[in-house]
Amino acid sequence: MAPSPRTALITGGSKRIGREIALSLAAKQIQTVIHYRESSSEAEALCAEIETMGVRSWLLRADFAIESETRSLVENAWQAAGPIDILVNNAAQFPSDRFEDLTFENLARNLQINAWAPFCLAREFAKHASSGLIINLIDSRVASFDWTHVGYILSKNVLAAMNRMMVVQFAPAIRVNAIAPGLILPPPGFEHGYLDEKVRTVPLERHGNPEDIARAVIFLIESPFISGETIYVDGGRHVVEYPPEGARRHG
Ligand SMILES: NC(=O)c1ccc[n+]([C@@H]2O[C@H](COP(=O)([O-])OP(=O)(O)OC[C@H]3O[C@@H](n4cnc5c(N)ncnc54)[C@H](OP(=O)(O)O)[C@@H]3O)[C@@H](O)[C@H]2O)c1
Repeated sequence: MAPSPRTALITGGSKRIGREIALSLAAKQIQTVIHYRESSSEAEALCAEIETMGVRSWLLRADFAIESETRSLVENAWQAAGPIDILVNNAAQFPSDRFEDLTFENLARNLQINAWAPFCLAREFAKHASSGLIINLIDSRVASFDWTHVGYILSKNVLAAMNRMMVVQFAPAIRVNAIAPGLILPPPGFEHGYLDEKVRTVPLERHGNPEDIARAVIFLIESPFISGETIYVDGGRHVVEYPPEGARRHG
């Protein structure tokens, strides 16, 4: 039986879904390198909480808008914590834009943070690791559209395609899987009512919680014959035609 993975690098891990993933891994005695960009106090508090569980944790800062910071993150993680067994590409930006106002600059920025950074990190990880697991957080709306976050959803579609290519490129040493969350948390800065208004689009008629995503991460870690899978954690939303709310149709 393959040895259990011991150390994970989680991008954007200081709060929200990333934080829950880190705590779930700690509960399994898996050490974490928590990457953050701005949320240093939340990252420090999480690190301290993990240490109280008797599990080691490290903090590393990087802004994925700066190519050199993205490129050095995996090497820095390796130097701080030793061999990394699991890379969780969780960090993302979620800016609003519509089909008619999407600019090339906004699309490029979404691609840089949400697709290029995870791709670079995965390549660096694969260079260093003789075995391991990569989990890319995409979005259940890759099965349809998000008419109010057009640059974002295009970048997540690119990451979904990259995820499939990684499965082939990094085999047989490294397994690669995606998790596609649905309605889990309101976007940063929005109230909980954001979710209540949208649950009508979910077959299960409720939103999920960060624990649902963390459970899928643990499942993938504990499933050594799964690679190339995308787990939709969205209450069935991806099989429903996504209403073009906010879309202005031509003709
Ligand atoms: N929330 C949902 O319901 C939902 C639904 C579908 C998909 N997802 C996906 O699931 C993942 C986690 O979702 P979430 O809502 O927890 O994410 P989030 O809070 O929007 O973002 C996670 C972290 O990403 C980091 N980040 C943003 N821009 C960055 C940059 N330029 N460089 C480096 N780090 C950057 C931020 O770190 P700092 O705070 O340290 O700056 C942030 O805390 C994301 O990939 C998201 O797209 C979430």
